[in-house]
Amino acid sequence: MNIAVLGAGYVGLTTALCMAHLGHQVSVFDTNSRRIDSLQRGVLPIFEPGLEEFLKVGLERGLLSFSQDLSSALMNKVVTFICVPTPQDEDGAADLTHVLEAVSMCSPFLDAGAILATKSTVPVGSTQRVEVALNRPDVNVVSNPEFLREGSAIKDFLNPDRIVIGSRSQAAASTMADLYADIAGSVLITSPESAELIKYASNAFLAIKLSFTNDIAALCEKTSGDISEVTLGMGLDKRIGPEFLNAGPGWGGSCFPKDTRALISIADGFGLNMPLIEAALESNERSHKRVADTIMRQLGGSLEGKKIAVWGVAFKANTDDTRESPALAVISRLRNRGAHVRAYDPVAHYEDDSFKLEVSALDAARGADALVLMTEWAEFREIDPRRVKDVMAGDSVLDCRRVLNADTWRQEFSDFRVIGSAQ
Ligand code: UGA
Repeated sequence: MNIAVLGAGYVGLTTALCMAHLGHQVSVFDTNSRRIDSLQRGVLPIFEPGLEEFLKVGLERGLLSFSQDLSSALMNKVVTFICVPTPQDEDGAADLTHVLEAVSMCSPFLDAGAILATKSTVPVGSTQRVEVALNRPDVNVVSNPEFLREGSAIKDFLNPDRIVIGSRSQAAASTMADLYADIAGSVLITSPESAELIKYASNAFLAIKLSFTNDIAALCEKTSGDISEVTLGMGLDKRIGPEFLNAGPGWGGSCFPKDTRALISIADGFGLNMPLIEAALESNERSHKRVADTIMRQLGGSLEGKKIAVWGVAFKANTDDTRESPALAVISRLRNRGAHVRAYDPVAHYEDDSFKLEVSALDAARGADALVLMTEWAEFREIDPRRVKDVMAGDSVLDCRRVLNADTWRQEFSDFRVIGSAQ
């Protein structure tokens, strides 16, 4: 099928490159000329394992084109995907400006009978707003939310648990289903409003699940329970399931924080409260604070002048994304309490006026009174704790992702702690 993708960001590129992988002919449009140039040269402007190979093969097979010319990008396309960002505005609501601008730009160029599919995460009722902005009764607007995760985007796209198509037209829904015909995964056809809500409700539910896990992890620390044993036991109950129960320093990224706040704002617009989602957000803040409190306790009750090494600034492993990263939230709390932080990440970049990342994990640890692991990069598991002990000044380590081998680390560090186990 001939398709177009508007927006060469995370979701847009994964959609475009996976669709080309499935054999579709894909034109990608973006207003950012550097991005388009880079893609034409086969260089991926984002970090995502495996995706650059898909770009290379797609270009070689002649299935991908990248341009800033909207009319040629949209010409003769059966489906055009809108994949532009929906940032949050000051009130926490999703800002539809980019989506509606993209829709107005597309309007003159879409063929009669074409489908305009929104992949951007948009509030309930947006399909209707898109229809109005598009002002093309001969074009079908559908909602086709994306459920991929950064770091495992290809796997998630090509092996989805479900493909959700929100459409008022049965014919448009079945063309959309054909597009995904080579992908195994249940196809669920719903109203556009339900599709829009499925996306937000899923992210909010997962965020609640994680906040709940992190709250139980805090209780484990007080009671000598162990969160890994507790979640193993919980997850064996099929009604709960084993996935997404890893305790951590709090959840972050470009989706959960933004989408939970947006769902609260959507509900508020209808005069409804979402107390569970609000509680999940509050619990998440407390998770960040708990990390800072634990390190402070490990260092005798004050962080003033203390040197702290932080391993990982990405919001999770296998991504360079630091948006709403728990690591940055914790770093900021540590610095506010007077600590000097030296941090390292294998892939992510971050700096501000008075802060720059170190070039290696050992460099970050050099001279540190305490070390805190914030992101579960495989690289950290491989590091010999004896080498870390040699360069550190202190004896305190806090593993916020439960990935270091506690037995070997405890041989070197008498004050080695993991979140979710007795402190
Ligand atoms: C999330 C959803 O999982 C995707 O289904 C959705 O498509 C995406 O948002 C989106 O809306 O675009 P993502 O933000 O890439 O995906 O990352 P996740 O893997 O869900 O992780 C989110 C946060 O939860 C991270 O900070 C991660 O470290 C944390 N997490 C995740 C845990 O602390 N424990 C877990 O067991 C899983």
